Amino acid sequence: MEKFVIRGGRELHGTVKVSGSKNASLPILFASILSGRLELTNVPDLRDVSTTCTILEFMGFSVERSADRVKVVEKEVIPEAPYELVRTMRASILALGPLLARFGRAKVSLPGGCAIGLRPVDLHLKGLSKMGAEIEISHGYIIAKVNGRLKGADITLDFPTVGGTENLLMAAVLAEGRTVIRNAAKEPEIVDLAKALKSAGAHIEGEGTDVIVVEGRRELSPISYSVMPDRIEAGTFLSAVATAGGEITVEDFPVETLKTVIDKFREAGLEIEEISPSKVRVRKKGRLTGTDITTQPYPGFPTDMQAQFMAAMCTAEGISVIKETIFENRFMHVLELQRMGADLKIEGNTVVVKGVERLTGAKVTATDLRASASLVVAGLGAENTTEVYRIYHLDRGYERLEEKLKALGADIERVPSELSY
Ligand code: EPZ
Repeated sequence: MEKFVIRGGRELHGTVKVSGSKNASLPILFASILSGRLELTNVPDLRDVSTTCTILEFMGFSVERSADRVKVVEKEVIPEAPYELVRTMRASILALGPLLARFGRAKVSLPGGCAIGLRPVDLHLKGLSKMGAEIEISHGYIIAKVNGRLKGADITLDFPTVGGTENLLMAAVLAEGRTVIRNAAKEPEIVDLAKALKSAGAHIEGEGTDVIVVEGRRELSPISYSVMPDRIEAGTFLSAVATAGGEITVEDFPVETLKTVIDKFREAGLEIEEISPSKVRVRKKGRLTGTDITTQPYPGFPTDMQAQFMAAMCTAEGISVIKETIFENRFMHVLELQRMGADLKIEGNTVVVKGVERLTGAKVTATDLRASASLVVAGLGAENTTEVYRIYHLDRGYERLEEKLKALGADIERVPSELSY
């Protein structure tokens, strides 16, 4: 086990390059089940990427990784994703649609809940059933099969689920006939998945809007694609400067995909200059002002930035009202931030932040990926030393975060943890 030791109070200066997107890489890697072959570049070196590659190997694909490149080639496929692997990464459910579409059957462990909520997959299953899949749940597994091919269908999602949209989009590209996905999620990572599928000949229109139309095909050619940069990682660096101060340039990410986050940080008083469509310069020129946010599906304020924004508001002047509408339990970081002296009050799905002058360093424990990021961000600006335990949560979604922060002037070390859990 490892922990971060952060000596707070140092401003950040310099330039940081964003890695490839975790939430685009994972669905595109599972899309290799549809095409049989895939070459992907700009893939970040993350635990979740490794888990996905392990699942693909377990299924009978050969996977080669070197630097940011991943090559997947189909061998003898067993369309199953076992509990032991799925329990470590909920996104494994994204194997279901591709396995059904390509092999007509699938046995995928039901992903359990996680720290941030129940996270059911009912909308995934409802949509696949509409496409002709027979689905039963037995002993914690989803057992699905279809006679012949999946059939295109007109599907309206009760909620713009990101994973549900991705599963149905991937199922639709090999289904017979036309599929329309209404109330589809519009996240940029879905657009990236669609582009990767189109690179292999898929017929998709409307990605990035709430109506996606797919004309199914019999087969796809190999996927060859470069993953989009990680907009949430970019946003996390904005939070770091908002908390620790200084001036940095964040480059190589699609600035327009982070518009609501940039607007909110500007509203709070952070100076953000858009130098190009893929580069911003961020400067903190004084104490920030408390600012309200409500998380929403894209293009609203992303839930994956809620914890990091909260960390920055802990030392802003005045009140910030932070409302989480996507997950029912995404406030695990609140208790840990309170231990650093933050003045936070949970009221249902809202947290009222009352800004304090400064946080004080403490020993804190990460509970989930973005909570970990918020504790690191808080530690960068806090007095004295902050130790963040269970940083394996952070390694799921950030590539070499401590190295990137160190290069910007932060005093942060990854060291063995004296605690065994
Ligand atoms: C994706 O999760 C992301 N993960 C999450 O990022 C992100 O927070 C989330 O989308 C929302 O943007 C990946 O892309 C790998 P959802 P996903 O289906 O697909 C409910 C991170 O930190 N729901 O849009 O699981 C669900 O319970 C991670 O990088 C149903 O009720 O999100 C949740 O409350 C965390 N039934 C809400 O919808 C369903 O069938 C949003 O879930 C599906 C979802």
